[in-house]
Amino acid sequence: MSTVIPLSSIGVAEQPVETYIPAPQEFYRQGGPALDSFKRRINYLRISLTDRCNFRCLYCMPEHGAHFAPRSELLTDDELVRVVRAAASVGFEKIRLTGGEPTLRRNIVEIVRGIGATPGIREISMTTNALRLAEMAGPLREAGLTRVNISIDSLNPEKFRQMTRGGDFARVWAGIEAAERVGFNPLKLNAVVVRGLNDDEVADIARLTVDRPWQLRFIEMMPLAGVGDLAEQSVVPTREIIARLEQVYGPLEYIGWFGSDPARTYRLPGAQGTLGFISSITEPFCSTCNRMRLTADGKLHLCLLRDNELDLRAALRNGASDEDLSALIRQAVWLKPWGHGLPEGVKPTLRGMSELGG
Ligand code: 5AD
Ligand code: SF4
Repeated sequence: MSTVIPLSSIGVAEQPVETYIPAPQEFYRQGGPALDSFKRRINYLRISLTDRCNFRCLYCMPEHGAHFAPRSELLTDDELVRVVRAAASVGFEKIRLTGGEPTLRRNIVEIVRGIGATPGIREISMTTNALRLAEMAGPLREAGLTRVNISIDSLNPEKFRQMTRGGDFARVWAGIEAAERVGFNPLKLNAVVVRGLNDDEVADIARLTVDRPWQLRFIEMMPLAGVGDLAEQSVVPTREIIARLEQVYGPLEYIGWFGSDPARTYRLPGAQGTLGFISSITEPFCSTCNRMRLTADGKLHLCLLRDNELDLRAALRNGASDEDLSALIRQAVWLKPWGHGLPEGVKPTLRGMSELGG
């Protein structure tokens, strides 16, 4: 097969290269783990299994008019597993299943099993709103899922309903308990902080970690397509969240910032669990980025906050061999932009978070 994708169609944005000297252009064709042109090793693929969701979180999806791809445009289960195999062949080791809401994908348990059985994949995790987890946690765990991250933006059922546009807090809480019971430990919880909605609740949410060994992470809201204005007006900087917590609990204990984990980790005094802060806006962590995304419709999305994509579905449906797929993934890694361009006014316009999976 000839390479199906003209590179000019990918729209690789200009990079700030003053401090980073790109590796030679031929580098990406060499064997071994895939490196990008800034010598970052990319070994983590986040796969959106569906762009649909049973919530409509207001920082993620517009209330009306969200775009949903027809089923024929989504990768099939077999196509997905092929992509994972090809990714593993160029050094990807970690897979995260996202959405939309990944538990809405048919055959999710079999998909987990298929991905988990792929040689080279060491970890397979899921980001979920937990609405269906009370029933599904056991089967998913048994199929080989290693971790779950659960979104929980408020502990007040009314506020929770407002932020998720209709979500049922009691069912989500039952999902969290089921996740813990079946052994998804340590449990990770995510809260996106939105000014005027849950910023007054951060101390209560953080209290969950006092006598539970949970890893709670506060996330700065990002301006993905569809929610850009809200994000700009309502982002709460990490330093402000920390100040609010310290007013209530006293100084937080700093634990560290490890490897390519985007979260800086702290602990409330004497707490069993930890607090993480993901400060994509005020303190970007692009230099340690190790990830790429696969959209539900089969595009490799190279950086969360940019529009650059490479169309793997076209390759799959044009008869690409396994070697072709591996080469395309290697090429996509090579083309990964240095980082987001929000300070220069470069904003993502193509996709909302519900198509990219957080
Ligand atoms: N900014 C930051 N995080 C977001 N998420 C969704 N939308 C946004 C946004 N605009 C994250 C939430 C959720 C996951 C699916 O994606 O943390 O847990
Ligand atoms: Fe659904 Fe998650 Fe987006 Fe909320 S954040 S609408 S639960 S995909």
